[in-house]
Amino acid sequence: MEVHEVELVMSAVDPKQYPTTGQPEIALVGRSNVGKSSLTNVLINRNSYARTSSQPGKTQTLNFYHVESQLYFVDVPGYGYAKVSKAEREKWGQMIETYLTSRETLRGVISLVDGRHAPTKDDQQMYTWLSYYDIPVLVVATKMDKIPKAKWNKQLSLVKKTLDMKKSDGLLAFSAQTKAGKEQVWDWIESHAFG
Ligand code: GTP
Ligand code: MG
Repeated sequence: MEVHEVELVMSAVDPKQYPTTGQPEIALVGRSNVGKSSLTNVLINRNSYARTSSQPGKTQTLNFYHVESQLYFVDVPGYGYAKVSKAEREKWGQMIETYLTSRETLRGVISLVDGRHAPTKDDQQMYTWLSYYDIPVLVVATKMDKIPKAKWNKQLSLVKKTLDMKKSDGLLAFSAQTKAGKEQVWDWIESHAFG
């Protein structure tokens, strides 16, 4: 999809604030700092529409980006940020769980992992959890510009194995810096949002 128009429609904590158009939604999840906002910006052809930062844990609400008036990207606050209090983590968990398990317009989840390392325990937990709820997942290994291309396949295999991925889910290498993988991510989004 060639994106010309994006609108941050809302930052929602309460389900009552979620959009009501009934249009498909694709959520982005992953550890703080993994590159969710950066991926969003690449997909929508903006340099800094979704706020990126070197300070992890900044995004605390569900951010709904309305794309071409056709679908929403839902930027989910990052998990695994140690400095967030236990109470905040629990509040986060409840909000995400409610959204991911009860949202009828949710068509799939893009789960980002840092392509330079093996997926963490948090990443594994998230993937297992999404699988349990039968939510279609695209795992995106990001920051791939930081590792040589010759090692990409080996790294992707490690991700697949560590997460014990289902055959029906997708796995892609991505870089927000070089935009590698952008078209493939879009293909997955379009087939799940409108397929
Ligand atoms: P939270 O909102 O805190 O959960 O973080 P996030 O997942 O949205 O991460 P964000 O997109 O803000 O990126 C965090 C940092 O990683 C920023 O400094 C980005 O510039 C950097 N970054 C993200 N993606 C890439 C990438 O593909 N390559 C490189 N080299 N850096 C990246
Ligand atoms: Mg972010």
